[in-house]
Amino acid sequence: MPRETNAIREDAMGRFEGKVAVVTGAGAGIGKACALAIAREGGRVVVADIDGSAAMACTAQIAAEAGHALALAIDIAEAQAVAALFDTAERHFSAVDLLVNNAGAMHLTPRDRAILDLDLAVWDETMATNLRGTLLCCRQAIPGMIARGGGAIVNMSSCQGLSGDTALTSYAASKAAMNMLSASLATQYGHAQIRCNAVAPGLIMTERLLAKLDEYMQRHLRRHQLLPRVGRPEDVAALVAFLLSDDAAFITGQVVCIDGGMLAHVPTYADGGNSRAARPSGESAEAAASPRC
Ligand SMILES: NC(=O)c1ccc[n+]([C@@H]2O[C@H](COP(=O)([O-])OP(=O)(O)OC[C@H]3O[C@@H](n4cnc5c(N)ncnc54)[C@H](O)[C@@H]3O)[C@@H](O)[C@H]2O)c1
Repeated sequence: MPRETNAIREDAMGRFEGKVAVVTGAGAGIGKACALAIAREGGRVVVADIDGSAAMACTAQIAAEAGHALALAIDIAEAQAVAALFDTAERHFSAVDLLVNNAGAMHLTPRDRAILDLDLAVWDETMATNLRGTLLCCRQAIPGMIARGGGAIVNMSSCQGLSGDTALTSYAASKAAMNMLSASLATQYGHAQIRCNAVAPGLIMTERLLAKLDEYMQRHLRRHQLLPRVGRPEDVAALVAFLLSDDAAFITGQVVCIDGGMLAHVPTYADGGNSRAARPSGESAEAAASPRC
């Protein structure tokens, strides 16, 4: 079987043998990395994405690695479409054991401004995808998980849901609400052996993000990570796979940051320290406080 020839699978195979997973927003970036990670460990994956061709490309990659996947084009904000997604998953594979609520309204973030400048349509659309979409998927997954004796859910939150920002008002509020939705789910269905955790990535360099950030912004963002490299989708996928697996059997209701240490320090102090260290004699404090990378 080609499966045995795959080096990645041989290293850590089996954690998801016999399991069925739904990963939303799995056509690109972090979601795609999660779908690949689950499939590489034997899980059968429903790759759900609003972009059908991106979903197909992901399933083609999984098939090329001898994994099992099904592509579905779906907007997770649509209740009927989400119901159809779980029906199709069950008919094609079997009831869903694992759910990764990863799809997020990232395309709206450039228009997601400060509170007084915010277009309410952006707020509504962000909440519809990030929060309502996550709720809809959880509601479809939970009954089947209860019937099968348990399951595991990971909700893709963000560091933005744990700290204030000058913009991204809707995005941050939606992610903070996702953290509490995860805790509520863990509280309400833990007795049925359903675990639910939120993962809060910091800066993760997906292809899409890389294309959007100029060199100045990339340097600026890197400066506030404690580790000397940017985050990769595979970093997040490894954490998601751990939380979905039995290795995390006693972990539920948590928000787990994966941010290269971004939230572990106070930027004001760190910038002050850097400026002091880099200040040539005679330079004013104001000049020294301008970004140095
Ligand atoms: N990249 C980062 O730095 C970062 C940081 C923190 C959190 N996140 C979160 O991680 C998740 C994935 O982000 P990414 O950077 O990989 O994004 P991405 O834009 O690379 O991929 C997101 C995928 O979700 C799909 N999608 C968008 N809306 C959808 C909808 N309504 N229904 C179904 N699919 C939909 C898109 O088509 C796309 O394939 C998001 O929830 C995002 O908020 C990302």
